[in-house]
Amino acid sequence: MTPMLRLALLGYGKMGKTIARLAPERGCEVRLTLDVDSNPGGEGITRENLRDVDVCIDFTTPAAVVENIRRVAALGRNLVVGTTGWNDKLDEVRRLVESSGIGMVYAANFSIGVQLFYRLARAMAESLAPFPMYEPYITEAHHRFKQDAPSGTAIELKKQIEPALKDREVPLASIRAGYIPGTHELGFDSEADTVILRHTARSRQGFAEGALYAAKWVMGKKGLYTFSEALERS
Ligand SMILES: NC(=O)c1ccc[n+]([C@@H]2O[C@H](COP(=O)([O-])OP(=O)(O)OC[C@H]3O[C@@H](n4cnc5c(N)ncnc54)[C@H](OP(=O)(O)O)[C@@H]3O)[C@@H](O)[C@H]2O)c1
Repeated sequence: MTPMLRLALLGYGKMGKTIARLAPERGCEVRLTLDVDSNPGGEGITRENLRDVDVCIDFTTPAAVVENIRRVAALGRNLVVGTTGWNDKLDEVRRLVESSGIGMVYAANFSIGVQLFYRLARAMAESLAPFPMYEPYITEAHHRFKQDAPSGTAIELKKQIEPALKDREVPLASIRAGYIPGTHELGFDSEADTVILRHTARSRQGFAEGALYAAKWVMGKKGLYTFSEALERS
């Protein structure tokens, strides 16, 4: 029998709780959960606390995540990072991961459906690029508790279609309201009609599935990977 993967959950908010619920069904055991009270400034990430932990999963806040990565890397544990809003620190995080010899998977969106959505978005942009009467745009909507805007997924979506669209402008609009789990839309609008590709998350379960998948995948790996790279190499 494959031994259970032993996890530490950094952040025990909406995502941390969803992962904790799903973990036992996916062959994982949550050994440690750290929240803002038990982990101020990353202080809960100690050798003693991570003693029985194989992989850490971080779903915290943009303000907390980089210090958490630094401490986990210093203790030589692999990790999965779902927290968004730290794109500007990617170079620093890459250096931390490479110099410590750990493995890390990160993504603004751990839903496998969204990874396929990116693929379709690239194909859509390539098909419509030769027709400049179709103007591209992106919209995204999330619950009012989400701290960053635009979403990391929308930023990644824009990056995915940019090579096909060259220097064309892609306006991006964000909505924060109510309890929307997450909707992303890529549209091409012309005077005559509109072409739309939309992904709608129904719940957080899809993100939790992907994060647990990535936690198993990253065991024994070294280096920094996006979730889409992890899926391609699976
Ligand atoms: N990649 C994906 O697929 C995906 C999917 C969903 C969400 N996300 C992202 O993941 C992050 C968390 O999302 P969520 O919906 O779970 O948010 P959430 O419910 O607000 O949970 C975040 C939790 O982290 C806690 N926290 C803050 N500082 C901490 C620290 N130093 N150590 C441990 N915990 C700390 C917060 O506590 P307080 O509230 O008390 O500050 C909060 O409970 C966000 O950046 C969100 O955009 C990513």
